[in-house]
Amino acid sequence: MSTRRLLVTSALPYANGHIHIGHLVEYIQTDIWVRFQRLAGNEVAYMCADDTHGTAIMIRAQKEGRSEESLIAEMREAHIRDFAGFDVEFDYYGSTNSEENRELCHEIWAALRKAGLVVEEDVRQLFDTEKGTFLADRFVKGTCPKCGAVDQYGDNCDKCGATYTPADLINPKSTLSGTTPEFRTARHLFVRIEDLHPFLTEWTQSGTHLQPEVANYLKGHFLGEPLRDWDISRPAPYFGFEIPDSPGNYWYVWFDAPIGYIAATKAWCKKTGSDFDSWWKTGPAEVHHFIGKDITYFHTLFWPAMLKTAGFKLPTFVHIHGFLTVAGEKMAKTKGTFVRGSTYLEHLDPAFLRYYYATKLSKGLDDLDLNLKEFEEKVNSDLVGKVVNLASRSAKFVQETGLATIYPEDGGLFAEAAAARDEIAADYDAGDFSAAMRKIMALADKANRYIDEKSPWTLRKDPSKADEVRQVCTVALNLFRQLAVYLAPVLPRLANQAGELLQTPIRSWNDVATPLVGTGVSPFTHMLKRVDEKQVQAMIEASKEPEPVAAPAVPATGAPTAAAGGVTPGASTDEATPVVDGPECLVAEPLAGVIAIDDFLKVDLRVVRVLAAEPVEKSKKLIRLTVSLGGDVRRTIFAGIKTAYDPATLVGRLIVVCVNLAPREMKGVGVSEGMVLAAGPGDKEIFILSPDSGAKPGQRLH
Ligand code: MSP
Ligand code: ZN
Repeated sequence: MSTRRLLVTSALPYANGHIHIGHLVEYIQTDIWVRFQRLAGNEVAYMCADDTHGTAIMIRAQKEGRSEESLIAEMREAHIRDFAGFDVEFDYYGSTNSEENRELCHEIWAALRKAGLVVEEDVRQLFDTEKGTFLADRFVKGTCPKCGAVDQYGDNCDKCGATYTPADLINPKSTLSGTTPEFRTARHLFVRIEDLHPFLTEWTQSGTHLQPEVANYLKGHFLGEPLRDWDISRPAPYFGFEIPDSPGNYWYVWFDAPIGYIAATKAWCKKTGSDFDSWWKTGPAEVHHFIGKDITYFHTLFWPAMLKTAGFKLPTFVHIHGFLTVAGEKMAKTKGTFVRGSTYLEHLDPAFLRYYYATKLSKGLDDLDLNLKEFEEKVNSDLVGKVVNLASRSAKFVQETGLATIYPEDGGLFAEAAAARDEIAADYDAGDFSAAMRKIMALADKANRYIDEKSPWTLRKDPSKADEVRQVCTVALNLFRQLAVYLAPVLPRLANQAGELLQTPIRSWNDVATPLVGTGVSPFTHMLKRVDEKQVQAMIEASKEPEPVAAPAVPATGAPTAAAGGVTPGASTDEATPVVDGPECLVAEPLAGVIAIDDFLKVDLRVVRVLAAEPVEKSKKLIRLTVSLGGDVRRTIFAGIKTAYDPATLVGRLIVVCVNLAPREMKGVGVSEGMVLAAGPGDKEIFILSPDSGAKPGQRLH
């Protein structure tokens, strides 16, 4: 096999949400592929970045009273930490909000202009007059025109599945301000990709760049009719790059996001001295994108059109995967199945998830299900029971002697496993990891049968059989090492441990071909612990969250507008709709006299759990409470209840708090971020409102 040069990308995660186990399907999948290619001797540059632009980030920054840049910086750190925790190793992690990206956007834009592909059209869109901004479909909610369900987004109905535009909604309201939006017209810039229709048909249908289902989907849904112009501008205010020749307009986030792949490469080249053009312009380097099926449309139509027009390399292959479900259902915060990467890592070993996903991933686009029982069983029976056990049952018997100096007769086991090298490599290369795992585990079964039959733990009781023990263990450890090589793309830490154990690092796929002899054997240290069901349950419990607190859901920046004619297969709105998870305070009007029900409904009362309670030294009345609103949303609240309650008795209780009162400075002791509900005249007669034990922190009182 001659050496390939591979530029590999995973989709750029949105900067406004944390990495969860659904995302990790993709990043783990890509990382496994990258590690396999490296082990096989290919040269790889693995690029990723945060996708930072768009309305969602802008609105969230505004709500949290800070700059987009500070929000982006914080999320970037969290993303990088989470990826590292799962051994996902990029060569470079960039940002779409970078100078390199801005320059490349200018360059590609100029090419589109020059090719005469940019046209202007008026777009009529709902406008929030209070916030002074146009509203993307998912920032509008109202009553479904088809089934009458209330509180539905502007693009489709959760209840009956109807799709429509915000103009069809009955009684539409802006989710930003709650006001009724009005229609306004603005001039937008469009890319006329219809001009590239013949090229796109050829490229998508050539049979070499896409999975067959993807090619068929595009043919059936888009390529059979004229391609609609792509709306790539958004009027101010918008967080993104301003369009140089159209002041006041910004590139829609999906214009600059994929350019971020190139920008990351450029930044990496600057850092390492690698030649940028050799990756994206000329020469034999291949470009491989890994993405989820929800963003197919952007990567298989617009993106090749942009690259082609601007003279960049076209993707060699776009590898598209399905969506993760948990126990057969969409991930859900209320069920604890919307598990953040960081939460997973607090409870479980990243190797488990990497292996489990590897056993589930194949070439197709089917969704993959995380079944927690199966997860536990696979890890315990395959990784611990079959792989690690081989080493743990043999290493200690040769720790003093080291491996035999001549590889012993093993009935052909080593040769058989070595012969699987090309087939397993082909599975990895094709993204058929589940097939690779099956083959590897079949080899592991044979190795285990061997050691069970030979039973070195029995042999060693007979001192005259010392030589045989050494031979059997030499075979077992060599078979173990072959498995460690084959699993190295999935389990890099195990490969390192195997290298240390046998005092010879695993460096290449070809390491499966030659047995180790005469090397020392280090003391066996534990490699992987079994999964305990309790850890899995604890992770699920820690991920449970009630409905989000006092925040209208913030739409995904990627949602295509109606004007773009965007249809995405299998888009999952639940998780594509990140929830603002910081505390926030809406300023409440003072309440007085008779109030209208609408006003009363503005008071946001929530069940919270008291996490900590301490008396405030300088005060006769005040207790400082730290309360949880579910998940990791916390608040500090000062309550004047010290005369009636011993703080210690409050910890762990559920109480009720008004959470949308403006924060109040409490005379030199701190800021109170809410108000505890209590009744009574005062002093010893204060009674805290306490919900039934079935209530959950974060639940709203109706
Ligand atoms: N920012 C865009 C991608 C821009 S690429 C130029 C985006 N970001 S995302 O954070 O929503 O998703 C990142 C990747 O994770 C996407 O490829 C998406 O398909 C994938 N996944 C997100 N949730 C997923 C599951 N539940 N299951 C599998 N993959 C999932 O889209
Ligand atoms: Zn409906």
